Amino acid sequence: QDPRLHGIKTKIRVVPNFPKSGIMFQDITTLLLDPKAFKDTIDLFVERYKGKNISVVAGIEARGFIFGPPIALAIGAKFVPLRKPRKLPGKVISQEYILEYGRDCLEMHVGAVEPGERALVVDDLIATGGTLCAAMDLLERVGAEVVECACVIELPELKGRERLNGKPLYVLVEYAEI
Ligand code: PRP
Ligand code: MG
Repeated sequence: QDPRLHGIKTKIRVVPNFPKSGIMFQDITTLLLDPKAFKDTIDLFVERYKGKNISVVAGIEARGFIFGPPIALAIGAKFVPLRKPRKLPGKVISQEYILEYGRDCLEMHVGAVEPGERALVVDDLIATGGTLCAAMDLLERVGAEVVECACVIELPELKGRERLNGKPLYVLVEYAEI
């Protein structure tokens, strides 16, 4: 295992009972406070994806906007924000997804991604996998090929990986006690 991973994991703060009772919140803001650990995080993704002919990095609002852009710049890809509803001013396509309670939605600008482009989806964390599924659906609906999904943290007990229909998922850190 890469020696940088341990340092990254120790910088992620676990906050019990946030935002509600029973949730162990994985707080990446403490990782961002450590320039070495933040750089190691980006470098690990860049080392994996550079030279893979990826032309678009799609980042998921909000926390995917922190990790996606530096990866995109370093591998020479464009960055496309996948936003919560009614934030994007142009024509959009929308994809609803189911949350533990209720629904949410992601939107992408029409024309931001061309058919046949090779895309990487970036977010901070996979829990149930619903958010990543919606992101992949948006990209595939416009004819892009999702090469992989990349997250800093996986909560394996929630089995989100199984919801991704076999699409590869790369994570740096697993957190076992949810
Ligand atoms: C969190 C997290 C992921 C998503 C994972 O985002 O940042 O995007 O949940 O959950 P899932 O795998 O069960 O879909 P959240 O929607 O809380 O919003 P934020 O990123 O804007 O803080
Ligand atoms: Mg999020």
